[in-house]
Amino acid sequence: MRLLITGSNGLLGQKLVDYCKFEKIDFLATSLGSNRNSKCSNRQYQSLDITNVNEVNQVLTNFRPTHIINTAALTNVDQCEDNNGKCHKINVLGVVNLLEYAKTNKCHLQQISTDFIFDGEKGDYTENDEPNPISEYGKSKLIAEEKIRTSGYKNYSIVRTSVVYGSGENLSKSNIVLWAIEELKRGNTLNIVNDQYRAPTFAQDLAVGCMKILLLNETGLFNMSGPKTHSMFEFVVEIAEYLEISNTQVNSITTDMLNQKAPRPKNSGLNLTKSKQVLNYSSSDIKSALFLMEVDF
Ligand SMILES: NC(=O)c1ccc[n+]([C@@H]2O[C@H](COP(=O)([O-])OP(=O)(O)OC[C@H]3O[C@@H](n4cnc5c(N)ncnc54)[C@H](OP(=O)(O)O)[C@@H]3O)[C@@H](O)[C@H]2O)c1
Repeated sequence: MRLLITGSNGLLGQKLVDYCKFEKIDFLATSLGSNRNSKCSNRQYQSLDITNVNEVNQVLTNFRPTHIINTAALTNVDQCEDNNGKCHKINVLGVVNLLEYAKTNKCHLQQISTDFIFDGEKGDYTENDEPNPISEYGKSKLIAEEKIRTSGYKNYSIVRTSVVYGSGENLSKSNIVLWAIEELKRGNTLNIVNDQYRAPTFAQDLAVGCMKILLLNETGLFNMSGPKTHSMFEFVVEIAEYLEISNTQVNSITTDMLNQKAPRPKNSGLNLTKSKQVLNYSSSDIKSALFLMEVDF
């Protein structure tokens, strides 16, 4: 296997780099900026803007990957709502550029997608449920999925995940768990929504799941999230409990008090039956994940 990773400076990208190094898989890490991951040598890194078709063709032709995992995206949901053009350029055009290369050169394309392709009215979504995104971010990720699914090319996989968390190096954006730990330890009170239900995903588990698809030569659509769908308020209370910090520091609020730019699905829980059966996918609950992250606190 020769694996090309996009978005390698991001949280999932960094965990995929860790996996490849540990398992001695031949990889090229790429991301928009310069390499910010000290665990990835500059020899194994190249800057790549996935929206630039010439760059995509040049870098991929030089490396000749057998597999591509595209983690690169504009992941800030409110920024996507504000800048629809930029959102679609990265989240759709970038994917089409990689898809065209994969089709022509017969390599596997894995696209990372999101629970935000659903409207959140049902919850416990299987891979067969009908998407209905309510934000520009969700729409852009669904269009990218459809470009792949309707292309006629069968050697692809799509992984839908939810609220990815974990520690990383020089991340361009924090995540709910790192932010909550920092604020709770500072003694600050956190306002957390009690009416958005998610199954937050430990980034290491997700990286292992993504790689399992490639190693087992699987194709198609897979849900991969944490094991339990709960309100974000309940989730952050569990973090406070693990840190032995009073949960009076976690204040329960409703979504309409937040004034978020982009609408959020109410319950975007993902059903994991297929991933468990086909991939033996397993995911950590928040307390086990915090234990594993502890060295990084
Ligand atoms: N984070 C979540 O809660 C969540 C939930 C559901 C689904 N997902 C999906 O999971 C995937 C990984 O998420 P993540 O949290 O690891 O993302 P992330 O930490 O935000 O990283 C995304 C990376 O994409 C890179 N990037 C942005 N524009 C690019 C471009 N034009 N060309 C190449 N690279 C570009 C950035 O690179 P630089 O840092 O080098 O600028 C960034 O490091 C994404 O596809 C996301 O949509 C994430």
